[in-house]
Amino acid sequence: MKNMICDNLSVNEKDHLCLGGQDTVLLAEQYGTPLYLLDEDRIRLQCRTYLRAMREAFGEAALPLYASKAASFKQIYRIMQEEGMGIDVVSVGEICTAHAVGFPLERAYFHSNNKTDADILYAMERGVGYFVVDNREELDAIERVASEKGSVQKILLRLTPGIDPHTYEAVSTGNVDSKFGSAIETGQAEEITAYALTLPHLHLAGFHCHVGSQVFDADVFLRSAEIMLRFMAEMRDKHGYLAEELDLGGGFGVRYLAEDPVMNIADTVKTVGESVQALCRQLGLPLPAIRMEPGRSIVAEAGMTLYTVGTVKQIPGYKNYVSVDGGMTDNPRFALYRSPYTVLLANRTEKAEAEEQMRCSVVGRCCESGDILQENVKMPKTVARGDLLAVLTTGAYNYSMSSNYNRIPRPPVVMLAGGESYLAVKRETPEDVCRNDL
Ligand code: LLP
Repeated sequence: MKNMICDNLSVNEKDHLCLGGQDTVLLAEQYGTPLYLLDEDRIRLQCRTYLRAMREAFGEAALPLYASKAASFKQIYRIMQEEGMGIDVVSVGEICTAHAVGFPLERAYFHSNNKTDADILYAMERGVGYFVVDNREELDAIERVASEKGSVQKILLRLTPGIDPHTYEAVSTGNVDSKFGSAIETGQAEEITAYALTLPHLHLAGFHCHVGSQVFDADVFLRSAEIMLRFMAEMRDKHGYLAEELDLGGGFGVRYLAEDPVMNIADTVKTVGESVQALCRQLGLPLPAIRMEPGRSIVAEAGMTLYTVGTVKQIPGYKNYVSVDGGMTDNPRFALYRSPYTVLLANRTEKAEAEEQMRCSVVGRCCESGDILQENVKMPKTVARGDLLAVLTTGAYNYSMSSNYNRIPRPPVVMLAGGESYLAVKRETPEDVCRNDL
């Protein structure tokens, strides 16, 4: 079937959609809807693929860091620890969650373009290994807090290599005009490097870049790696500084639609590896310890969201609307970015596709017209209250971007592993939603 866009999807003899071999109709009955499902076996496979590919391409010092903004909750950090991954964290909330389950924070890299003094202290007190520093003010602030503590903090400097990754604007970060990082092109990257080297409580371990997200073109990664390596050679020549680490960021694309390309992680990492090795030889640089920061490509295809269909509204001459029991509160990505998704009926998957179809907007239940999960979706004309609807590839940036708008409680996260399922995040109750109110 064309819509089985990832190999963990299938349809069973009852014509029910399955994820990781498990019947989604039974899972919806057991856990209720709306429901986030995450295929843990798939997540572990992605981690192992990155780990193996990076070690083969860049040697034993290489380490993938899971960009945990893609999906952050306790169990995901346990899995990352078990798989031997590092992590990228961007807030005290993510640090706290990882710390709560004993993730070894010396393998954590703390991002953000505007860390407050309180954030810096919080992260240092919990032993976060690396700060990825965005700008000069932040360097001063980290130096000040480290000097007050009498410690030396390892840092990477976030640089912008000036590359347009050809992705949608909201996730494009590697060009010069960006709120992130210091640009190589304008000389600010060199300035900040020279300055960082003068600060006694900072240890400059190396450099970081991240050009964008949902990128399929390997050439984007090759070009940014080349710019970064050339900058490293320049810093060696001009300032006698040799970077030990180079972090190439995340951004590998995933399939939301059947027409999206398949990005082969192992092949892409290998290609980047060959090019980095060759350039290091050419520039006379020792191979730095390489980091990559995959988020989406670790968790997206492991995920699916299940909803129950409610109202079906056919407006003759206009659009048809299929309303579900979730919406922009559990998945704001269409509202924010017009992100495409594959939407299927999970309780009669192949039969539904064989029937006469209509086009509809799949919408949520917020008091807001923009509360749309997807437009122009093909559904059988018989779609009705009680049908189970699945949105595929929701493992990344869905739960982590969810909100309580309209005080709608968040769905639970259920993990699928080895033919079993278990709750990783409980369903919120209406009482949970007002627990901080005084
Ligand atoms: N490293 C850095 C510094 C990043 O800013 C990001 C993503 C990543 C790694 C991970 O990128 P990934 O492998 O997931 O593409 N909310 C948006 C995505 C924002 C991405 C932000 N940074 C979305 O839903 O598409």
